[in-house]
Amino acid sequence: MPVPWEALLPFGLVTVMFGAAGTLFNVSTRAQNLGKPGRYGVDKWEDMMMRRDERLTGHRRGQTSDPTPPPGYEISSVWETERVA
Ligand SMILES: *[C@@H]1O[C@H](CO)[C@@H](O)[C@H](O)[C@H]1NC(C)=O
Repeated sequence: MPVPWEALLPFGLVTVMFGAAGTLFNVSTRAQNLGKPGRYGVDKWEDMMMRRDERLTGHRRGQTSDPTPPPGYEISSVWETERVA
């Protein structure tokens, strides 16, 4: 059975390009999430917790075990009493 050698070059190109795109996407997503994988399907509660983490640490994916909140924490919250346009 003849081997289609001429097809191996484009096959290699497609394989390398998919790998490069996936790796770059992975690196970009992790760079935006403090080295953690990105979050998907975030519900309202998780979004609220991530906003609290942002107020506590300065980043939505940040975490802290320090029980004393940073200065200004008690006034940095937004009460959502009405929909903001
Ligand atoms: C992204 O990179 C991390 C660390 O380098 C690795 O553990 C993870 O499996 C990668 N994710 C994908 C989808 O390749």
